[in-house]
Amino acid sequence: MDTDQEQVVVSMPRIGDKAPDFKAVTTQGDINFPGDYAGDWVILFSHPADFTPVCTTEFITFASMQDKFSEAGCSLVGLSIDGLYSHIAWLRTIQDKIEYRGHKNMEVKFPLIEDITMEVAKKYGMIQPGEDTTKAVRAVFFIDPKGIIRTIIYYPLSLGRNFDELYRVLIALKAADEFGVATPADWQPGDDVIIGPAGSCGSAKDRMDGKEDMKCQDWFFCSRKIDKDTILKKVLKK
Ligand code: BEZ
Repeated sequence: MDTDQEQVVVSMPRIGDKAPDFKAVTTQGDINFPGDYAGDWVILFSHPADFTPVCTTEFITFASMQDKFSEAGCSLVGLSIDGLYSHIAWLRTIQDKIEYRGHKNMEVKFPLIEDITMEVAKKYGMIQPGEDTTKAVRAVFFIDPKGIIRTIIYYPLSLGRNFDELYRVLIALKAADEFGVATPADWQPGDDVIIGPAGSCGSAKDRMDGKEDMKCQDWFFCSRKIDKDTILKKVLKK
């Protein structure tokens, strides 16, 4: 092949795929992914590099929310293309010296994978050469208790993530599974949920005749109320 035409082949897992498995060394010991997390949700996320400012704000924010994600039955696992000692030194510096939005002395208790060989980053399509060839983009994979990828979000190097949105995505995915519904734009627990489309002319008519337990503006646009406590009781661990 003409070298000008050579393309780097990277695997890009998709929503609905089984999460690619790997073994890794982390700041919390060795892990076997996703097997060690079977039965729970897990968010696998990458960041470009240790000792960089945007990543530092992200880690402080995620660390400040780690109990909240844990109560929602979700583990966090980070990754960058740095070695274990760099990870340890960076996390110690964050805890000892850095304050962000009122959070200080934050201890990062979730594992941070060393991926100096880029083996994991390549498996998960975290290296996107148009952005950078040696730094991972800010990827977020939501993986369900069966090890299936349910949501993928990518951000570029320059853009710090919104962690409230990541939490909202987790709760919405769990609510969709628990109640068999979909969630509309900007949904938050307690807001109306969307009921799937009518599957027949008869059920479309029943919906418009008010025979179903739902509010319909049109036969395809129906919703119902599930109160916040009902949602949270189901999706949060007791
Ligand atoms: C940062 O985390 O600050 C960062 C990392 C890579 C490129 C740009 C910013």
